[in-house]
Amino acid sequence: MDRNLALEFVRITEAAALASSRWMGRGDEKAADQAAVDAMRRAFNSVRINGTVVIGEGERDEAPMLYIGEKVGIESDDVPAVDIALDPLEGTTICATGGVGATSVIAVAERGKFLHAPDTYMDKIACGPGAKGVIDIDAPPEANIRAVAKALGKDISDMTVVILHRPRHESLIQEVRKTGVRIQLIGDGDVSAAVATGQAESGIDLLLGIGGAPEGVISAAALTCLGGDFQGRLKFRSEDEKKRADKMGIKSLDQSLRLGDLCKGHVMFVATGVTTGPLLKGVRFLPGHRASTHSIVMRSATGTVRMIEAEHSLEKKPNGMMHTERA
Ligand code: FBP
Repeated sequence: MDRNLALEFVRITEAAALASSRWMGRGDEKAADQAAVDAMRRAFNSVRINGTVVIGEGERDEAPMLYIGEKVGIESDDVPAVDIALDPLEGTTICATGGVGATSVIAVAERGKFLHAPDTYMDKIACGPGAKGVIDIDAPPEANIRAVAKALGKDISDMTVVILHRPRHESLIQEVRKTGVRIQLIGDGDVSAAVATGQAESGIDLLLGIGGAPEGVISAAALTCLGGDFQGRLKFRSEDEKKRADKMGIKSLDQSLRLGDLCKGHVMFVATGVTTGPLLKGVRFLPGHRASTHSIVMRSATGTVRMIEAEHSLEKKPNGMMHTERA
């Protein structure tokens, strides 16, 4: 994959972040998400790729844009064929409530290298490079915590584990608390939390628990770039979801999925902050119709992690960037 593509993808997540950040704290999740989707879809129209959305806003009948299977980019014979996993607004509730850490994200892989995950749940475990090879989605949380502490040379009481704050995690949280580890319970946004495990300065050592399966594949791409580890197991809510997974080619529905089962080959990961979080600063609107964005771009081929700060002139952007349309 051409490395220059990385910058093209940043423009796409920047556009989605700028558009959705207009809806920060306005209590309208749908409008925030729609703004991100519209801006992302428009921005794809200027990128020279034969792109196929494999993780997107849903299946064709439920998502008018960026649906699974949709072709994006300016297609031609001399441009790369890539699969795209995207979440135009990861953390819609975060954005609608002006909370911490909403992002716009895209992961890109060579054709056929992402798991085609249905829109169901996934039990997840993620860690950074220092603990790669010691985590195991099949092992109990305590064993994983001990293994990661040992690999990182940390006392368990110095470690931080992130878990989505959900009733389904009550017994997981109790079990993890018994180990003496520090816990950060987050309201939403487990992609940022997974990425944070791969960045030593974040202070986050491990992610545990059940979140969205599409977000799992995107997180796996990020940790592939960072040299960390991510494993998962799909958790279905209904027979219908199982049937859809089967149709998407997932052979063994309760199989533990290792990093290489979720994504392989050369991968890129790009995210732009919508609201400020541990990973990225959110969009800030500046005097003179300008705005600043903060993005992260990573490529597995080189392991380079770039943080990109940009200042945009909103007057020169397409429709919808200057103001929020009134709800
Ligand atoms: P959205 O951006 O789709 O709202 O997802 C936010 C999120 O918190 C994800 O980060 C996470 O994987 C998933 O929702 C968890 O799902 P649920 O809120 O149903 O527990």
